[in-house]
Amino acid sequence: MSPHDQDHYGGLKATDELARQAKIGSGTRVADFCAGLGGTVRYLAYKYGANVTGIEFTPVRVAGAQDLTKLVGLQDVARIVEGNVMDVPLADASVDAVVSQESFCHVPDVKKAVMEAKRILRTGGRLAFTDWVANEPLSAADAQLMWDGMAIQPLRSIPDYRRLVEGAGLEVLSVTDLTDEWGPILKDRLAMYQRLREEARQAGTPLGHDAFHESYIRFVELVQQRKLGGIRIVAAK
Ligand SMILES: C[S@@+](CC[C@H](N)C(=O)[O-])C[C@H]1O[C@@H](n2cnc3c(N)ncnc32)[C@H](O)[C@@H]1O
Repeated sequence: MSPHDQDHYGGLKATDELARQAKIGSGTRVADFCAGLGGTVRYLAYKYGANVTGIEFTPVRVAGAQDLTKLVGLQDVARIVEGNVMDVPLADASVDAVVSQESFCHVPDVKKAVMEAKRILRTGGRLAFTDWVANEPLSAADAQLMWDGMAIQPLRSIPDYRRLVEGAGLEVLSVTDLTDEWGPILKDRLAMYQRLREEARQAGTPLGHDAFHESYIRFVELVQQRKLGGIRIVAAK
């Protein structure tokens, strides 16, 4: 399915980097927080031989992810379960690694999600995730646009994010600023969305979600201006 089931920036290469940082290999028990259509869940199981459980909030995505996983015969090692990352349906100390990609920006209480990651990790296990950050506070209008178009919660700076993870009781191993890496990726994505809208317009079909499109254009601008950006954080229990 790749790249259609990879709803994060940088595709499989970005997932390989998370796998490396989280020390994922054959038999590693992994949880993917906010798994979407399960692309990362299947990839980690298929490429690394990991045993992966994705936690996903939206029922229609869970159903789609499960169908896709069955289609490729990975259902014994790649599961997607319906759940909220602020209250994860997995036992204490039951996984070796937790990953998440560009999703905590949608979660109302990120500290709670990180504390859940800590709870389900075994001692020495790793949390490795990517997410949005605000290098400077957004104007009220921009914050509203991000919420209306993409359900983005209030964002935090890189130092505040580090403090949040430490405050949840994990040891931060690395914090990498991905803003420059994301710049060209986001521009390409926007060009793709614009191409698709033009094709739809020419075919006389609905153009898609205008609020999303408007907020995405502004998002890309804000990243080029480095007001918004991305990070990868790796932490250990
Ligand atoms: C941008 S998508 C990323 C999907 C996936 N991580 C990927 O890279 O393809 C964000 C996903 O987070 C899910 N989500 C948002 N809040 C959640 C929560 N509190 N618990 C679990 N999933 C959540 C959404 O339903 C959506 O599928």
